[in-house]
Amino acid sequence: MHSSQHNGAFHPDDYGMAPPSYEKATQPTSNLNPKGWTKKKKILVGAALAIVILIAIIVGAVVGTRDNAYPDYSQVTYRLADTYSGANFFDDFDFYNKADPTGGFLHYVLEDAATQPAHNLTYATENSAIVRVDTSSGEYDTETGRWSIRISSKKQYNSGLFLFDVMHVPYGCATWPAIWLSDADNWPNHGEIDVMESVNRATTGTQMTLHTSEGCKVNGKRKESGKSLANNCLFSANDNQGCGVKGPKNSAGEAFNSIGGGVYATEWRDEGIRMWFFERSELPDDITNSSATPDPSTWGEAVADFPSTHCDIGSHFKNASIIVNIALCGDWAGQDAIYNGQAHCPGTCHNYVANNATAFDDAYFEIKSFKVYSAE
Ligand SMILES: *[C@@H]1O[C@H](CO)[C@@H](O)[C@H](O)[C@H]1NC(C)=O
Ligand SMILES: *[C@@H]1O[C@H](CO)[C@@H](O)[C@H](O)[C@H]1NC(C)=O
Ligand SMILES: *[C@@H]1O[C@H](CO)[C@@H](O)[C@H](O)[C@H]1NC(C)=O
Ligand SMILES: *[C@@H]1O[C@H](CO)[C@@H](O)[C@H](O)[C@H]1NC(C)=O
Repeated sequence: MHSSQHNGAFHPDDYGMAPPSYEKATQPTSNLNPKGWTKKKKILVGAALAIVILIAIIVGAVVGTRDNAYPDYSQVTYRLADTYSGANFFDDFDFYNKADPTGGFLHYVLEDAATQPAHNLTYATENSAIVRVDTSSGEYDTETGRWSIRISSKKQYNSGLFLFDVMHVPYGCATWPAIWLSDADNWPNHGEIDVMESVNRATTGTQMTLHTSEGCKVNGKRKESGKSLANNCLFSANDNQGCGVKGPKNSAGEAFNSIGGGVYATEWRDEGIRMWFFERSELPDDITNSSATPDPSTWGEAVADFPSTHCDIGSHFKNASIIVNIALCGDWAGQDAIYNGQAHCPGTCHNYVANNATAFDDAYFEIKSFKVYSAE
């Protein structure tokens, strides 16, 4: 705009009696003003504009299609591959006794220590397997932390349908229980699939989450009933929270235990990872009927849907074991803003763990079975 022409007094005489017109008042000095162009130039520029508009339309359509894209979760026929249950439940797991990688105030112990009668942290019968936090009032100073358990299946998986039938989950101040799938030695490159995870009083249901290396997002179309918390699954994004989805309230904590628990079902395939939660009174027939094979295509909408649209599931998730652990305090449960602020737990998390053995009576898993199905 040639601003000098619009400053100061306007003199209609300069332009005859015609109403003032900016078109008239503006000298065609700019190359961008078509008034001074030859016919040829007008045609060329017009054609160029048409091409630019066409490209914009095509790009828009492609991006639009991508955002609308959704994988083909067509029916897969499954076959039972592994059952973890019964008195020998723990034979198929390795016990972990390294320092807790999540900064917890606890001490993971091996099976020999876990099964000492005074501690009794792991215990299996024909009906169920128990995994618990130590409730004995040992000397839990700031160095050692309370005894707890982390077990990892010897067998590793690269896909499948996982049914975790659980009767009781740990809850209460300081606790951070989880049932998850990961190749912990190759984390985050081989990914992490968190199926059951909650902290402290666990009043808001399980948080179903993926943690990955760079390049996995779930920002496209999804079909899920849970509330999505973040779209970038990169392990370090958003304060390490991964891309989580909140399950229903009764999928963790006291609410879960009071209904006799239920089944967490996870389908992991190249098209995506989907997770359902079924409370015990609402299990689908193909889960309760032990001679049937479960068919997720009949289950309706998942609680959490992580489609492959913007995440190459096959390359981000590999060689995962089934892992069960109960951390205490640490990076999530133990943060003041979470422990005191969100959960209104007393004192400091460390003091609570060190001095309050009886507060961990409910800090145990009771697992009916884990079943793993593979595609036929
Ligand atoms: C260990 O725990 C189980 C399950 O809670 C219980 O039945 C058993 O009596 C306990 N054993 C000891 C030695 O306390
Ligand atoms: C259980 O599943 C088997 C195999 O699909 C089927 O033959 C049987 O009728 C089912 N039982 C019930 C009670 O639905
Ligand atoms: C997965 O585990 C198997 C057996 O331990 C190993 O041979 C294979 O190399 C692993 N895959 C990757 C991608 O690390
Ligand atoms: C022990 O747990 C009880 C019940 O949660 C709580 O009221 C109390 O403050 C705790 N004591 C300490 C020392 O943390």
